[in-house]
Amino acid sequence: MSEKKPSSGFSRRGFLTSVGVTSGALTTGLLTTEAPAQAAEPVAVGPGAVPFTLTINGKPYKVNLEPRTTLCDALRNHLEFTASKRVCDRGTCGACTVIMDGKAVYSCTVLAIDAQGRKIETLEGISTPEHPHPVSQAFVNNDAQQCGYCTPGFVVAAKAFLDHHPNPTYEDVRHGLGGNLCRCGTYVGVRKAVLEAAKQRHGGSNA
Ligand code: FES
Ligand code: FES
Repeated sequence: MSEKKPSSGFSRRGFLTSVGVTSGALTTGLLTTEAPAQAAEPVAVGPGAVPFTLTINGKPYKVNLEPRTTLCDALRNHLEFTASKRVCDRGTCGACTVIMDGKAVYSCTVLAIDAQGRKIETLEGISTPEHPHPVSQAFVNNDAQQCGYCTPGFVVAAKAFLDHHPNPTYEDVRHGLGGNLCRCGTYVGVRKAVLEAAKQRHGGSNA
């Protein structure tokens, strides 16, 4: 069956690929015509624990962690933000998704120490049982979860997606959430939920 292209022509995996290509070109000097500006001298830290601060859901949290600690492990094991799940731990499944400076990222692929100064949003700051986010409510309305293990990552990714694409089509949603996997196969429910949330939040037509 031929694959329909999303109207906006984007996908999360495609975005990640393009970032990788661009970074590679820059680091090999292919795009530069002048000598690079003097970079600040790097300061080595670790391998033992070092103190730093993370800004999560609008609040500062002081931590003392080894530089090798991922943001996923810092959130779950050191700060008790356990909504994001550590499943593949290699940037494949999306269960660990959080929002960093407005973009959905796999927290298992970000070092916590590199997240200093960034604005990190987790599901705990987006949706609560008392005040469910429209995306969370739409997941319930559309039976968009079975075991639920992938659901927090999907809800966070969907929230970030809708913030940037307030009136998506079904194909847009399918491609935009292509970085999240569900082993229970709830994809149709998830996509319907995201379209419903878009309609509620932004008055989209969901064509
Ligand atoms: S646990 Fe991070 S992408 Fe799977
Ligand atoms: S609902 Fe079980 S992995 Fe998605």
